[in-house]
Amino acid sequence: MQRTVISEALAADAPRTDIRVCGWVRTRRDAKNFAFLELNDGSCLANLQCIIDEGTPAWEKLGGVNTGASVKIEGELVESPGKGQKWEVRAKDMTVFGLADPETFPLQKKRHSDEFLRTIAHLRPRTNKYGAAFRIRSQAALAVHDYFRDLGFFYVHTPILTGSDCEGAGEMFRVTTLPVEYRPKEGQSCFADDFFGKPASLTVSGQLEGEAMATALGRIYTFGPTFRAENSNTPRHAAEFWMIEPEAAFADIWDNMELGEGLIRHAAKHTLEHCGADLALFDKFVSPGLVDSLRQLAERDFVRVSYRDAVDILQKSGKTFEYPVSFGTDLQTEHERFLTEEHFKAPVTVYDYPKGIKAFYMRLNDDGETVAAMDLLVPRIGELIGGSQREERLDVLEARIRELGQNIEDYWWYLDLRRFGSVPHAGFGMGFERLIMLLTGIANIRDVLPFPRTTGSLEF
Ligand code: 4AD
Ligand code: MG
Repeated sequence: MQRTVISEALAADAPRTDIRVCGWVRTRRDAKNFAFLELNDGSCLANLQCIIDEGTPAWEKLGGVNTGASVKIEGELVESPGKGQKWEVRAKDMTVFGLADPETFPLQKKRHSDEFLRTIAHLRPRTNKYGAAFRIRSQAALAVHDYFRDLGFFYVHTPILTGSDCEGAGEMFRVTTLPVEYRPKEGQSCFADDFFGKPASLTVSGQLEGEAMATALGRIYTFGPTFRAENSNTPRHAAEFWMIEPEAAFADIWDNMELGEGLIRHAAKHTLEHCGADLALFDKFVSPGLVDSLRQLAERDFVRVSYRDAVDILQKSGKTFEYPVSFGTDLQTEHERFLTEEHFKAPVTVYDYPKGIKAFYMRLNDDGETVAAMDLLVPRIGELIGGSQREERLDVLEARIRELGQNIEDYWWYLDLRRFGSVPHAGFGMGFERLIMLLTGIANIRDVLPFPRTTGSLEF
């Protein structure tokens, strides 16, 4: 079946005497001796209007075709006399693939709440809003690959099954093949009988393996699923999300900032260039001012501020925060959003955090108190990127692992990277869903993932 996708049909520069289009009927309107079908095939936001005249073979098959039905229409692409579209199809013949019973098909032509649509995540991509969100998601992924390819970064694949806890936060999903009723034999560890013979989990980050690859290939990035069993029921946390993690050898925290800030700018630019119609929908119905804010984001420099100065600003702000701040406390979303939305009114990079609130691998600064960490904050979201320069000094890293009470043997290979030809290096992680939230104005992470996984929710 040679079909023309609707995005191409709508972009035609001349009429066509013979065209085949397929899709799902969004609406049907009946007139006296003809009917309109608005057809959408997911290739773009716009529908293609198809006219079925009485007396054509297509007309004979119209019975039961309604919102949600799937059809193929063959006919002519002609200039549309009506307003709102340049082209329309005058149908000759039609094939009905599947009907949708109007009594039970949930996506009738009316606005549905996001909450309701989450309960039908298998059907919601067929709505304008979610179709647009997932097309933007696809384009944004291309933007990420483009950006790194142009800078000479290699795309590497790090494991999803892991034996190490990168972030040391212990929020990992255990993986086992043992049956639920399994009990270890007397005096034996339960892992002895398990698939790997040791504890296994789903990865929270590909960083540690990424560092091994970067200290060989020079510049790498990963882009894959990550899993966190955080019990935080927020609009910004999912149990399964995608993360982009570049790692560059011979780079410091300042190079790292530039890389991260450039990535966000590039993603905004790319989306503006390639997703105009879909963005317009979000600008109109979801987040007024979105397109302007993305244009600014694509052009603007990030403000850079040290954690120490950021805390000072927050303390002097006169605002009452739910969580008070002082040197040594982690910044909460409310603080991050205040800095970027109200104080600087710009995207912000905060750097040099106290070592006590950051992971073991971050490079200790000369003050002995802070580490070369950086978080990139953007309006509406707060932290979009978290990263650091890595500790490349073997003795300092070992001391840090011990200080945190972690098992040094577990890190033998990671320490080898410092033992043999150690180099300064840096990297970060960007949450891909948070990027999509930024690009679309969608406020809840559950609505930028096709099938979100969050605490207590594993449908589909
Ligand atoms: O700041 P995080 O925890 O950093 C790391 O995992 C480092 N190992 C990254 C690195 O340096 N290679 O996570 C990085 C980003 C966050 O800034 C956030 O955007 C996103 O990942 N993120 C989540 N996104 C959705 N749901 C969650 N539960 C997330 N946790 C982190
Ligand atoms: Mg972080």
